[in-house]
Amino acid sequence: MEISVCRKTFPFFFLVLLSATLLLLAEACHVVDKEALLEFKTKITSDPSSLLHSWTSSSDCCTAWEGVACDSSGRVVNVSRSGLVSGDASILDTYMTGTLSPSLGNLSFLQLLDLSNLKDLRGPIPPELGKLRRLSYLFLNSNKLTGSVPITFKYLFRVKKLYLSDNNITGVVPSSVIGSWKSLSELGLSGNSLSGSIPSSIGNLALLTTLDLHENNFSGSIPTGIGKLKSLKYLDFSENQISGSIPPSIGELHELELLYLNHNQITGSIPSEISGLNSLRFCRISENKLTGTLPPSIGELSQIQRLILENNQLTGKLPATIGHLTTLTDIFFSKNNFTGKIPSSFGNLVNLQTLDLSRNLLTGELPPQLAKLQGLQTLDLSFNPLGLVSIPKWMSKLNLFRLLLAKTGIKGRLPSSLSSSTISFLDLSSNELTGKLPHWIGNLTSLSFLNLSNNGFRSSIPVEFKKFSLLMDLDLHSNMFSGDLNLIFSKEIQDPLGRFNTIDVSKNRFTGTIDEKLGDRPALASITSLVLSHNALGGSIPKSLGKLKELQVLELVGNGLSGVIPEELGDAMELTKLLLSRNKLTGAIPGKVLNLKKLREFDVSGNRLSGKIPPHKAIIPASAFWGNPGLCGAPLPPCKHS
Ligand SMILES: *[C@@H]1O[C@H](CO)[C@@H](O)[C@H](O)[C@H]1NC(C)=O
Ligand SMILES: *[C@@H]1O[C@H](CO)[C@@H](O)[C@H](O)[C@H]1NC(C)=O
Ligand SMILES: *[C@@H]1O[C@H](CO)[C@@H](O)[C@H](O)[C@H]1NC(C)=O
Ligand SMILES: *[C@@H]1O[C@H](CO)[C@@H](O)[C@H](O)[C@H]1NC(C)=O
Ligand SMILES: *[C@@H]1O[C@H](CO)[C@@H](O)[C@H](O)[C@H]1NC(C)=O
Ligand SMILES: *[C@@H]1O[C@H](CO)[C@@H](O)[C@H](O)[C@H]1NC(C)=O
Ligand SMILES: *[C@@H]1O[C@H](CO)[C@@H](O)[C@H](O)[C@H]1NC(C)=O
Repeated sequence: MEISVCRKTFPFFFLVLLSATLLLLAEACHVVDKEALLEFKTKITSDPSSLLHSWTSSSDCCTAWEGVACDSSGRVVNVSRSGLVSGDASILDTYMTGTLSPSLGNLSFLQLLDLSNLKDLRGPIPPELGKLRRLSYLFLNSNKLTGSVPITFKYLFRVKKLYLSDNNITGVVPSSVIGSWKSLSELGLSGNSLSGSIPSSIGNLALLTTLDLHENNFSGSIPTGIGKLKSLKYLDFSENQISGSIPPSIGELHELELLYLNHNQITGSIPSEISGLNSLRFCRISENKLTGTLPPSIGELSQIQRLILENNQLTGKLPATIGHLTTLTDIFFSKNNFTGKIPSSFGNLVNLQTLDLSRNLLTGELPPQLAKLQGLQTLDLSFNPLGLVSIPKWMSKLNLFRLLLAKTGIKGRLPSSLSSSTISFLDLSSNELTGKLPHWIGNLTSLSFLNLSNNGFRSSIPVEFKKFSLLMDLDLHSNMFSGDLNLIFSKEIQDPLGRFNTIDVSKNRFTGTIDEKLGDRPALASITSLVLSHNALGGSIPKSLGKLKELQVLELVGNGLSGVIPEELGDAMELTKLLLSRNKLTGAIPGKVLNLKKLREFDVSGNRLSGKIPPHKAIIPASAFWGNPGLCGAPLPPCKHS
């Protein structure tokens, strides 16, 4: 720093004098190292963050080059992105384009090489890096490097931390390479396209604390030798093609805090030895093919906080021993085949925030002990044959943020016990709820998501609906709602919150016309999906719908809509799906609508449209135009010239 200040302010001869003095005081940069670094710089084609700005042949690489550090004899020991703590995920965004020069292999005293997060270093990792026998830290993550891990990396005997994550590295990692990194404590190879099996030699890396191989294409099974990694704290094999079963030896990892095996093809059951993971806090084995029952020994994971097992084929009863895990904050067991009752011991899980047992085969009464879960924010028991009949009274004692009880056998009226709640997300769909929507529903002013679809509600929309000023997603489809829709559209908003994202009121008995000014309503300004199909709506399609700039889906099938298809719909540039079939629409199809750039699905069958179908690029089947006697032209038969 000081030197560069001098350079600007002092006459040239002072500078020469100063450099000469410095040369005498400290050993200058070794010529081989300087050459190697200058050669590296020639392969960098763009340096927008000016990281190599100070690297000039006229200056001393040990004292004047940013990001370069030498030992007392002038040998380069560290090369890193200047101004950053090495290995730190940087807050500073840095960029550099180019390839890695083989000359880096000449830095024979190098201990640390950090060229991570430069986004645009390309090409292969030079095998010459294997010559860096003193290298302890290698960070090349977050670039666009290709090719495979060089076989010469087996000579990096001293490497302690090695990160090649988030590149485009392919091929297998030879067993001899991994097995030779005896000093390794951290290995990050995630976010590449590495394949082959995880070498069993990994069991040799006794000092390993972090092993991150997620998001690759590793296959084969988890090596049994994994149990030898006694210091391992962090193990992430998620998002690969790993098969076979979980080796019981995994239970020997007493230091392990995080185990992610999700998104693989793992089969077999969860070994009872898992109880040995007595430091485990985060466990995610979801999206696999696990079968069998949960071992009762799971109740010995005394530090566990998040247990994520969803999307497997686990069967049998939920072990009551889970109730011992009072450190648990989140249980995600959705999409398995668990049977039997929810154990009453779950009421002991005082730190629980999420209980998701949805999409299983759970039956029987809910234990009232669950009322003790005062920190619970999300309760999802949807799609279980629970035969609830009614929402248990104790549930109103919880301060839930999300309540999902879809298809749990609830019958009758909406219980007023819900009204005192602070619920934001409510899904009571696919039950047998009947009767009117009560006026107190307006008390649920925190609602942002409401799904009452697939029930037997027989009601108009109560005026209190206007108070849902935070409501964004509304699904009322497949009920017997009737009357006017406009109360829904004219609800209050708390800008920018409370604008609708999706509305589905299809398969009801709504009547009246669609408000002409619908597209001008603030509540609809950012709606993406509007589904009003299969009602008894009349009048015409409002032109103003064309102003809905984020609308992707518009479905108005099976109503009594008449008039023309407004050309203005062609202004809704995001439309991908436009379904208008089975109405009484007349006139020609506007070319602007049919040529909407993103249009993928279009159906106007069963109307009274006429004229030539405008030329269009989207592939639309003829059936989408059928049942309009006056329409002609591709994909229908050609028009007859009169
Ligand atoms: C090189 O980097 C290592 C690891 O960050 C550090 O401990 C060492 O002090 C650095 N050496 C010099 C000369 O800066
Ligand atoms: C490494 O250094 C040697 C000796 O200084 C030199 O001949 C060679 O060209 C250098 N290699 C590279 C790849 O720069
Ligand atoms: C990674 O490499 C594959 C195969 O060479 C290539 O198809 C893909 O586009 C590359 N991805 C990136 C992000 O460079
Ligand atoms: C990943 O592995 C599977 C088989 O294990 C193979 O079919 C697939 O092509 C591989 N994909 C890549 C990107 O290497
Ligand atoms: C899980 O339950 C479903 C539905 O009852 C069934 O089709 C499936 O075969 C079951 N799978 C296992 C592994 O038991
Ligand atoms: C709804 O809110 C009103 C006003 O805050 C209150 O008087 C009424 O008791 C509430 N209704 C129910 C069923 O909780
Ligand atoms: C509402 O629940 C039903 C199933 O009961 C589901 O099919 C539908 O997608 C849900 N609606 C929304 C908006 O998530």
